[in-house]
Amino acid sequence: MENRQILFTNSTEETEKIGKTLAKELLASETIPAFLALYGDLGVGKTAFVRGFVSAVSPASLVRSPTFSLVNEYRAGKVPVYHFDLYRIEDEDDLASIGYDDYLTKKAFCLTEWSEKIPEALPACRLEVRIEKDDPRHPDHRKITIEPIGGIPS
Ligand SMILES: Nc1ncnc2c1ncn2[C@@H]1O[C@H](COP(=O)(O)OP(=O)(O)OP(=O)(O)O)[C@@H](O)[C@H]1O
Ligand SMILES: [Mg+2]
Repeated sequence: MENRQILFTNSTEETEKIGKTLAKELLASETIPAFLALYGDLGVGKTAFVRGFVSAVSPASLVRSPTFSLVNEYRAGKVPVYHFDLYRIEDEDDLASIGYDDYLTKKAFCLTEWSEKIPEALPACRLEVRIEKDDPRHPDHRKITIEPIGGIPS
C-alpha cells in the first residue's frame, strides 16, 4: 500500500471487515513484521478493527480489550499478533515494564490502541489507522483513514 486510503463504514461488522481485509493484504504481500498504530476516541471502534484483523491471522483467538494487561498476544495463527491498549499508560516505564521494545523486534503484527499516548515510541515505519465518527446524524458511521508512514513495503 503506497497511498492513503479513506474508507467509510456503517456498522461494527463493516469495520471488522476492513481490519480483516488489511490483514489479508499484509499476509499476501508478506509485509511482516508490520506495526499498525490505531488512533481514535473512546468507543470509536479500534478493538472492532483489531478483532477483524485477528480473525484473518489467528481465527481461533478471542480478541478482548487488553485494558488492564496493556497487551494481549494472539498466537494461534502463523504470525503472532500483539494487541496493545495504551489508554492507561502513564510513562515510558510502563512501556518498558511490558517489554515493548522486545515486541518491536519480533516477526509479528503489532497493533496499538491509543497510539496518541506514545508518539515518541512508535516505529518510523508503520501504518496509521485513524477511526472517526464523522456524522452526528448517523452514530454508527465511521471514517477510517489508513496511511503508510516511513515507507512500509507495498
Ligand atoms: N461503524 C462502526 N464501527 C465500529 N464500531 C461501531 C460502529 N458502529 C457502532 N459501533 C459500536 O461502537 C463500539 C466500538 O467499540 P470498541 O471497543 O471497538 O471501541 P474502541 O475504540 O476500542 O474503544 P476504547 O477506546 O474504549 O478501547 C461498539 O459498541 C460497536 O458496536
Ligand atoms: Mg478498545
